[in-house]
Amino acid sequence: MKNRTILITGCSSGIGLCLADGLRERGYRVFATARKSRDVEKLNAAGHESLMLDLDSSESINDAVTEILKRTNNSLYGLINNGAYGQPGAVEDLSRDVLRAQFETNLLGTQELTNKILPVMRQQGAGRIIQISSVLGIICLAYRGAYNATKYALEALSDTMRLELRGTNIYISLVEPGPIASRFRDNALAAFHANINVANSAHKTRYEALLQRLEGKSGKMPFTLPPEAVLEKVIHALEADRPRVRYAVTFPTYLFAVLRRILPARWLDTVLYKVGDSTNK
Ligand SMILES: NC(=O)c1ccc[n+]([C@@H]2O[C@H](COP(=O)([O-])OP(=O)(O)OC[C@H]3O[C@@H](n4cnc5c(N)ncnc54)[C@H](OP(=O)(O)O)[C@@H]3O)[C@@H](O)[C@H]2O)c1
Repeated sequence: MKNRTILITGCSSGIGLCLADGLRERGYRVFATARKSRDVEKLNAAGHESLMLDLDSSESINDAVTEILKRTNNSLYGLINNGAYGQPGAVEDLSRDVLRAQFETNLLGTQELTNKILPVMRQQGAGRIIQISSVLGIICLAYRGAYNATKYALEALSDTMRLELRGTNIYISLVEPGPIASRFRDNALAAFHANINVANSAHKTRYEALLQRLEGKSGKMPFTLPPEAVLEKVIHALEADRPRVRYAVTFPTYLFAVLRRILPARWLDTVLYKVGDSTNK
């Protein structure tokens, strides 16, 4: 894998960090990006080639891409769109600004970055784009509406780009994890406290259960896997001659991919309501 360059977003923790470590060990030249300078310093100290990239800022995206392309002589084999966060809360409790912020990071910044890299891939006649989506990109759970919407939108843009990139030797794959051990829950908890007014909400009682889950008081979510489970699929998406369109990771993703095909909508709602309720406890 020597000379194959990969750009990854959101490498400060969790899946992004695991991908950066694992792909570097495999011989890729990895640009492990993070949005905070202290994380960039930490990554560089650990031997990574790290740069700042904040998906909320066009300037930051532009600066990172310019610097990386300068270092690679204008080439990039793979882009892994990993950086994102979850904004919990009932849809009716999300202000316009809070919903917009979730889209800015998880979708709009991600697409802006992809659009900056695509001309490079077109010019070199090859490339791999890997979108870290979610089981919540294929089914919805209560109180995850903002995050659900961004992952559904990511799936839609990816499905569209796949049609538009047909015949170019640029492949786009969606990786759909269920629960993975990372800082995701802690970050979601912070977003909940920052943006949801519990006291004024019609959902006050159910928020108490949601908080128990996010605070980890209800223990680990069932079927949780380590981030290495995602790495395995990403390696396939980067190295297979014909990478898959979708990679399910964890049992819940496999299960829901089947259930949403075979169950009538209201039956699926009943299952999803129960799953949402039990994973909130
Ligand atoms: N963990 C799960 O159960 C799970 C399940 C399905 C899908 N996923 C997806 O997996 C991906 C990685 O999440 P994770 O589980 O590894 O969670 P994580 O540990 O919270 O990592 C998320 C990463 O995204 C970064 N990020 C957040 N906002 C950003 C921004 N504006 N610009 C650039 N980076 C930003 C975070 O940086 P900071 O440290 O600076 O916040 C962090 O590096 C996400 O796309 C997530 O939706 C996770």
